[in-house]
Amino acid sequence: MKTKEIVCPMKVWGFDELPATAAGLVAEARQATFRSYSPYSHFRVGAAILLDNGEIVTGANQENVAYPSSLCAERTACYYAHARYPEAKFETIAIAARGTDGEFVDDPIPPCGACRQALLEYETLAGHDVKVFLAGRDCVYELPSVRSLLPLSFSEF
Ligand code: THU
Repeated sequence: MKTKEIVCPMKVWGFDELPATAAGLVAEARQATFRSYSPYSHFRVGAAILLDNGEIVTGANQENVAYPSSLCAERTACYYAHARYPEAKFETIAIAARGTDGEFVDDPIPPCGACRQALLEYETLAGHDVKVFLAGRDCVYELPSVRSLLPLSFSEF
C-alpha cells in the first residue's frame, strides 16, 4: 500500500499588499456582490473573470423561488464570459462575498464543488493555469490554478 498526499498551495495576501491587477479584479468581484439577486439566502456573492482579450466579465448569484434553479456567482460569470467571448481564454478569477449582515465576509469564500468543476472546463480550454483570488475582508487567498482547488477532478472520459 502506498500513500499520497495532495496539497493545496496558496498565498495569503493582506489587502494593502495585493498587486494592482489582482486588487482591481477583487474590487470588481466586490462590486458584483451588489448586483446579486439573493432574496432567499441574503448571501451575496460576486465573481470577476479577466479574459485574455482584456475584458473583465462579472457575475453575481441569481436565486429563484424554486431554489435548485438558482445559480452561483462563479457559474453565472463563467457561462456569461464564454457565451459573450467564446474565443477568449480565461486568465484570472476573483470571488468575493457579503454575508447576511451585508458586510464582506471575514474569511474568503471558496467556490462550491459544482463551480469548481465548471471553472475547470474553462481552465482546460485556456490551456494554461487560471489564477484564483478569494477575497475576505482583510485578506485575499491566491490559488495558482482552478485545478489546485479541485484535486482528483473528473476531466476526461
Ligand atoms: N453561492 C455562490 O454564489 N457561490 C458559491 O460558491 C457558494 C454559494 C451562492 C448560492 C446561493 O445563492 C447563496 O450563495 C447561498 O448559498
